[in-house]
Amino acid sequence: MPAQPKAKSRPDAMIALLNQSLAGMLDLKLSAKQAHWNVKGENFIALHELFDKVATETDAYADSLAERAVQLGGVASGTSQQIVRNSKLSPYPASIQASNQHVKALGAATGLMADQLRKAIDTADEAGDMVTADLFTQITGGLDKLRWFIEAHA
Ligand SMILES: [Fe+2]
Repeated sequence: MPAQPKAKSRPDAMIALLNQSLAGMLDLKLSAKQAHWNVKGENFIALHELFDKVATETDAYADSLAERAVQLGGVASGTSQQIVRNSKLSPYPASIQASNQHVKALGAATGLMADQLRKAIDTADEAGDMVTADLFTQITGGLDKLRWFIEAHA
């Protein structure tokens, strides 16, 4: 008689990885709003609109990350306190206004988040969770595109 497959344990490592990514994504979304509100100077209207697009898209990515953590049996960690505790991004500069400074700061934050997720793809792949790996892959592609849009203004 063939051995019964072992019951799969709760994928705690994936839930933690999703929640760490969620914190960074929410941090990035708030940074994009900060840039949207405060940007001044060259390319104002293009950047004001682009930074809002970054906020909208990163909000959707955060939603997918949070809901995947819950689908795996976890609890999504999306409070402001959890964002501060778990985000790996540098604090967004609070008083900058010049458009070139926001392009530099938000481009760097978007790139860091994309690189963090690139590592998460490998981790999920190694854990055999191809659905989570695919979610990270989709989001990384989206962040790479946003980063390109931002940095094309530099
Ligand atoms: Fe607005």
